[in-house]
Amino acid sequence: MEKRKLGTIEVSKIGMGTMAFSHGYGKIPERQYSMEAIRAAFDYGCTFFDTAEAYGAQLYYEGHNEEILGEALKDVRSGAVFATKFHFKPEETEEGQDIYGVAKSHLIKSLKRLQTDYVDLYYLHRVSDRVPVEEVAEAMGRLMEEGLIRGWGLSQVSADTLKRADQVTPVSAVQNLYNILERDCEDDIFPYCLERGIGVVPFSPIASGLLSGKITVHTEFEKVDDVRNWVPQLTKENIAGNQPILNIIQEYAGKKDATNAQISLAWMLHKYPNVVPIPGSKNKPRILENLSAVQVMFTEEEFNALETALAGCTIYGHRGHVEMEGKSFLKKKPLR
Ligand SMILES: NC(=O)c1ccc[n+]([C@@H]2O[C@H](COP(=O)([O-])OP(=O)(O)OC[C@H]3O[C@@H](n4cnc5c(N)ncnc54)[C@H](OP(=O)(O)O)[C@@H]3O)[C@@H](O)[C@H]2O)c1
Repeated sequence: MEKRKLGTIEVSKIGMGTMAFSHGYGKIPERQYSMEAIRAAFDYGCTFFDTAEAYGAQLYYEGHNEEILGEALKDVRSGAVFATKFHFKPEETEEGQDIYGVAKSHLIKSLKRLQTDYVDLYYLHRVSDRVPVEEVAEAMGRLMEEGLIRGWGLSQVSADTLKRADQVTPVSAVQNLYNILERDCEDDIFPYCLERGIGVVPFSPIASGLLSGKITVHTEFEKVDDVRNWVPQLTKENIAGNQPILNIIQEYAGKKDATNAQISLAWMLHKYPNVVPIPGSKNKPRILENLSAVQVMFTEEEFNALETALAGCTIYGHRGHVEMEGKSFLKKKPLR
């Protein structure tokens, strides 16, 4: 598969989010199935895999997802790019804490679970308002010097915080919410990242499945650990409100002999040269379908017509809240 750069790290143009094999989208598959699905993605040409220490089985088993990824790709480790993330525990944000020591202790556990001695891309999962981001940047710089990580990033971060961090230790990638329905990043994250050679790795690039067109007002989500039960964009009213957007995507899917999910991914790949989406699915055929969105190309004319059509629509609802913090992901009001 064609490659893109996140800072100096080369990755396939589309990556794979592995979260749902452990958490967030209902009942998880058997471990063997998950490993085979990851391996099928790698065999297809995907080299970029996104996990986190927090992706535990139904949330109670920290590192479950890292273990699956590490096991699935242990014999081809050097051909894969592993991205993982850590969260500060509340006691780790107290004044006087050695932030480098804290980050390293999280990293060491991730390395063990991933069966590797380095992580390619290490993110702070959520910036803490009790730990200056400059201290995190400095710690990440030290971990890079030690060869334990190749690059670092921030997740769901504002442009101001990103700039402060990037001045201390250059950032490789930002992992923020971005898709056709969530455009905040276009204001200041993309311009800054393009200027600085930083990659943008959108999470929920298919809007938690909504943009695939497979979710309807009649869809019932699973009752166990399924974020779609609380994503405001997935209320029946908002699904119905966003139908004109889904219809436009469907129309383009027809024209391009593609699926709606592929159009949603191809749209962002066309729009920005530094974007590398990480769609998530626990279904092997869909994983391959998403990766093959690299083959869907737009002419400038087609792309501009798509953008114009989308710009004429009202967006209903938003993805939800920064978990545990109760804040909206969005800076702006969701309706426009
Ligand atoms: N940094 C962060 O804070 C953060 C937050 C959330 C996620 N992430 C990362 O981003 C990755 C992707 O995000 P996400 O999983 O939330 O959202 P997503 O990729 O936008 O959507 C996932 C949902 O879409 C469905 N889906 C995927 N491909 C499909 C297709 N081709 N056709 C129909 N339905 C499809 C999946 O269902 P099936 O499984 O049934 O296919 C799943 O319910 C995660 O795996 C994780 O690595 C990071």
